[in-house]
Amino acid sequence: SKRWILMTTAQTPTNIAVIKYWGKRDENLILPINDSISVTLDPEHLCTTTTVAVSPSFDRDRMWLNKKEISLSSDRYQRCLREIRSRANDFEDEKKGIKITKKDWENLHVHIDSYNNFPTAAGLASSAAGFACFVFSLARLMNVKEDLGKLSAIARQGSGSACRSLYGGFVKWNMGKNDDGSDSVAVQLADEKHWDDLVIIIAVVSSRQKETSSTTGMRETVETSKLIQHRAKVFLCPLTCLIHLNISPYRINRVTNKDNRRLVSELHLIFLILILARVQSFRIIGCVEKWNSAEGSPQAAYTFDAGPNAVLIARNRKVAALLLQRLLFHFPPHPDTDLDSYVIGDKSILK
Ligand code: PMV
Repeated sequence: SKRWILMTTAQTPTNIAVIKYWGKRDENLILPINDSISVTLDPEHLCTTTTVAVSPSFDRDRMWLNKKEISLSSDRYQRCLREIRSRANDFEDEKKGIKITKKDWENLHVHIDSYNNFPTAAGLASSAAGFACFVFSLARLMNVKEDLGKLSAIARQGSGSACRSLYGGFVKWNMGKNDDGSDSVAVQLADEKHWDDLVIIIAVVSSRQKETSSTTGMRETVETSKLIQHRAKVFLCPLTCLIHLNISPYRINRVTNKDNRRLVSELHLIFLILILARVQSFRIIGCVEKWNSAEGSPQAAYTFDAGPNAVLIARNRKVAALLLQRLLFHFPPHPDTDLDSYVIGDKSILK
């Protein structure tokens, strides 16, 4: 019968890298030139929810993102779909009278409905949460038995940073050595309880779509930067204040902050090449730097992904509250705006 429908829903948060992945050695398989480490955010405020369904009445694979239908034709989606489908297993629900064999999955089509619980146009990285959720929900639907490491290698082929979103807490993406990407997987370094009062504040500077994709940015940096190979080799943390803040509670091999000039010039280089950071971004950097030096010790760290939005990291809720107050002072909302829509997320920090 064509009447049944089987579905499952999954939720995946986004992640913020403290040691960035920047540069690919293989653009198809998305294999990076360096290891990276990130913090996975709390799913409450920044995550993707994806519902996947299968039914014999579906005549083709289809996907909706934030209620609008989008094309699944890109290589990234196709690769993930193919990898998951090829690992599908028999499924049976006797009560509902549904039986799907391994072979059936090859001819069954799926509908994928995905939405982000944060403003889509906010210029916030959504592909990490999106692809992680895409892969995870399909794997559940198709009764795939692979472990999270293997699933991370599949999500990686959708968007590099997505591989790190399958775990909570602090996550490392091992660049791996193999040409087929089988060892380019994510591992959890410390779980979400490890540093549970760490607060990440994202200051949205521009809600426009980024002008340079991270793929283009990485390609240009790899082709033109004399420093990028060095960075990849020594696994530097470009954010020296992160080291001061001791944001790496685990041992990161060979992290060094001995050569600050080189780090600074590298950062500038990436900024200049991509022309991503806007004036406001620099003002936020200035605001954090000034506060850190006035206090005599670093209170907060800042980082940027491939866009102008500043990601601020505070070591605990108290520091976060002070930082937020400073930000609201220096970047006040328009008098007509209410604070509720100006500050999205966990407002209890303001109290
Ligand atoms: O996941 P991609 O391929 O869009 O690359 C994202 C890269 C950065 O966010 C800038 C850094 C990182 O490690 O997440």
